[in-house]
Parts: sequence; C-alpha cells; structure tokens
Amino acid sequence: MANLITPPRWRLAEQDVTPESVFWNRREFLRQLGFAGVGLAGLAGGARALAQAPHAPGAYPAARNAQFNDAKLRLSDADTVVHYNNFYEFTTRKDQVHRLVDKFQITPWQVEIGGLCEKPFKADVRELSAEFPLEERVYRFRCVEAWSMIVPWTGFPLAKLLAKVQPKAEAKFVKFVTAEKRDQMPGLARLREYPWPYTEGLRLDEAMNDLTLVTTGVYGKPLPKQMGAPVRLVVPWKYGYKSIKSVVKIELTATQPATLWETLSAEEYPFESNVDPRVPHPRWSQATERLVDTGDRVPTLPYNGYGDLVAKLYGKG
Ligand code: MTE
Repeated sequence: MANLITPPRWRLAEQDVTPESVFWNRREFLRQLGFAGVGLAGLAGGARALAQAPHAPGAYPAARNAQFNDAKLRLSDADTVVHYNNFYEFTTRKDQVHRLVDKFQITPWQVEIGGLCEKPFKADVRELSAEFPLEERVYRFRCVEAWSMIVPWTGFPLAKLLAKVQPKAEAKFVKFVTAEKRDQMPGLARLREYPWPYTEGLRLDEAMNDLTLVTTGVYGKPLPKQMGAPVRLVVPWKYGYKSIKSVVKIELTATQPATLWETLSAEEYPFESNVDPRVPHPRWSQATERLVDTGDRVPTLPYNGYGDLVAKLYGKG
C-alpha cells in the first residue's frame, strides 16, 4: 500500500496490498500479553511477563457503552482487522506489520502529558486505566485510502485526561507523539526522509469532544502491537491517520502543531481531515469506501456518520 504518499521523492511503488484472510494468531497474541509458554517453565515466564504487562489483570473485556453500540453496525471480522494495518514505523505493507512488531518493546511505557497545563504528569497505561475506567465503544473507522472497518475499541475519553491536567487559557491545540525506537522500528530507516516521530494534532475543542478516545484495547483485549499498543488515539470522525498509534507524549500548545502527514503533503493530508464524501482526495474519490473484511463498497458519510456529535465544532449542524 502506498496510497498515502504523494510527493515524488517520497513516493513508493504503488502496491495496494489485498487484505489476506489470516486467522487471528492467538498464540502470538497471548505471547504479547505475557502468557507465552505452555508447560511449567512457560508458565513461570508468563507470570513474570504478566507482572510487567501494561494492563491490570481483569481489565478486559470492558463493559460496552450503550451510547456507542449502534445495532445497525456489524463488527468487522477481527482476524482481518488485526492483520491489515497502517503503521509506517514498521513497514508500508499492511499485511506485514504484524510480522515486524516482535522486537517492539511496550513495557515499560510511560505517557507524558504536559505543555500548557497546570498539572502535567506521567503515567503508565496501567495507572491510566486505573484512574479512568475503561469502556468499550463500537466506532466506524475510515482511512483516507477509502477503506473502512467497524471496530469495538476499549478506552476512555481524552477529555477526562485533559480535565485532570487543567489546560491553561492559552492552550488551543493538543499535539500527540508516537514513540521513535530506531532499533525496534525498521520502517524509520527505510523512510529516512519522513519527519519522524509520527506526530498528530487536534484543536483543543476536538480533543475535548466525547468521541475522542484514548484507546488501549480492541475486540475485548489489549491492543496488539500492530494496532498501536499500548495506547493510541481514535478520532472516528476524521480520517484514520489522525488516530495516532503507540503514543508517548501528549502536549497542550498555543499554536497548531506540525503533523507528519501535513508536513509531507498539506494538500493531500490537511490538519483538519474530517471525513467528507463531497471532497475528493486529489488522487481519488472519497464518495465511497471498501469494508476491509467483506470487500463491500458502501457510501461514505459526512463526519463518518458522527455529524450529530461533531458538526457543531465546525459551525454546522
Ligand atoms: N500512527 C503511527 N504512529 N504510524 C502510522 O503509520 N497510520 C495511521 C494511523 N495511525 C499510523 C498511525 C493510519 S494511515 C491509519 S488508517 C490507522 O493508524 C490504521 O490503524 P490500524 O492499523 O489499527 O487499522
């Protein structure tokens, strides 16, 4: 896949990787959680890893929030979703990300929340989920490349975290930064000219919207590494690139932060990037989208179907 990239010096070979129907690799998933081995030695190792695991035992599955459980939405097939990923720090090939995350260390993992706020702090994911109760929400997720899925995410509203740090009056934006681990992320060296680390941003009022989810799990389990473990953002009314993975830093700022994609091509990946079927991407239509698991093509909805909750942020609705 290389649809995202446009400037010639960054352009990769066009190869829209067809989603493979790979089954969920349960053994690998458990290994990531620290439940690796079978047999006594394995159990001892598993217990040690569990003690360091970023999630409190029993945190999953979290109860589903009835407000985000639209009966009309059919969940996308989990096996497809967890093996069809955009995570350029590893590779641009969607079906290969899950094979390249083995060395990626997610423990220990601290998230730093600071910048223009009264009470900055650092916490690991276990501390965050102890302080902000986890809930499950079923959201539509729409990539700028015109594919989509329907996913049960586990997390808590970013607004709760922001309320805790008490933004100063000057704070107008929130910047998010992904880990940059050169020894563990082979894609960083391959895409040398990219302005790493992956950075994203929201206006403060967008960040405070109840839909904006600090996400630690998916399909009732902690996030697998390829989906942005141990903690990512999900912003369902915007194109998927705003939903930054493996976040280490959240910073309140007075000015609009530079983001990786906007820096690469502001025309193709502007800061706001609300899902809008009427505004084509310069190289393709955004009127419809392909569901990753069934391949069905369906109409794209303004704000990805969340206009009733967010249009007011843009003076509409
Ligand atoms: N975050 C980081 N750090 N690196 C990335 O390459 N890709 C983005 C977003 N967040 C990306 C990222 C894009 S383009 C999409 S569509 C979604 O992650 C994909 O999320 P998924 O792999 O969990 O479906």
